[in-house]
Amino acid sequence: MSVEINWFPGHMKKALDELSTRLKLVDIVFETCDARIPLSSRNPELNRIIRDKRRIIVLNKADLADDVETKKWINELNKSGISAVAVDSIHKKGLIQIRNLSEQLCAEVLERAKNKGRIGRPVRAMIVGIPNSGKSTLINSMCNRKIAITGDRPGVTKSFQWAKSDSNLELMDMPGVLWPNLGSNRNKLCLALTGAIKTQVTDSVSVSFEGLTMIQSLYPEFISQRYGISPEYGLFDAQKQYDQFLFAARAKGCVLSGGRIDEERFAALFLDDFRSGRTGRISLEKVFEKKTD
Ligand code: G4P
Repeated sequence: MSVEINWFPGHMKKALDELSTRLKLVDIVFETCDARIPLSSRNPELNRIIRDKRRIIVLNKADLADDVETKKWINELNKSGISAVAVDSIHKKGLIQIRNLSEQLCAEVLERAKNKGRIGRPVRAMIVGIPNSGKSTLINSMCNRKIAITGDRPGVTKSFQWAKSDSNLELMDMPGVLWPNLGSNRNKLCLALTGAIKTQVTDSVSVSFEGLTMIQSLYPEFISQRYGISPEYGLFDAQKQYDQFLFAARAKGCVLSGGRIDEERFAALFLDDFRSGRTGRISLEKVFEKKTD
């Protein structure tokens, strides 16, 4: 079984062009990613456009990811010269770090403004990221309310909005953007599992089947606890993997009259379990660990 995605990026190019134009209005970019998939949730097109602009990688939904892995990712990003913060936008964790880092990274800009008499000039940040990475939640949490409009600025289209945060940041929201081919099958699976790609354009049974198999290989104990599957049962054997998918569905009562397994219902249940963190705190992508010998 493979994950088929009927994907057409349509309006995305327009959004990327707009983003590129507006980049010059901000001091820094907050790139929100999903902490469970720090690789797959970074849009290479954004990377190409943002280039060497100051940036903070916001590893959002850190409350759903494996803490140990998130720390490793932050280390890894820092080692390659990129600032990164683990954030839980819902519970407002990590927001102070974002503010402090922003001031640090934009110190020169703020100093120049101060010398021109603009004391306390806010840092202007653009929030970018793939759909469903938590951009709106982050903005609302930073502003302590649903996005506040602080008025248009010269040269900016009418529909454009700045949101003022409580901590002297001005935030510019951008629409979530994906990219045309979405990378490898594994990449697509990660995006589908975390909800960056809408369930409507994927086959939820395939996504759940592949997802269950992937998570079992990474966190067998979680799958065992939640669905009663023996930790090593289906590893490396496609038929056994399918058997255990059916077993898990049966264990959760997803059975139609006549005894047939309701795969669709189990797929929805499985995705909901994973996305809400009920399966456990899971990082689907781990930092490659070099052998030390
Ligand atoms: P977006 O603007 O980037 O598209 O994302 P948005 O803020 O709308 O957030 C997408 C979903 O992710 C929302 O769930 C939101 O509550 C959740 N979310 C955002 N940040 C965090 C976080 O730090 N931790 C956790 N656990 N969840 C977060 P939703 O309303 O249920 O939407 P959906 O997932 O059903 O689409």
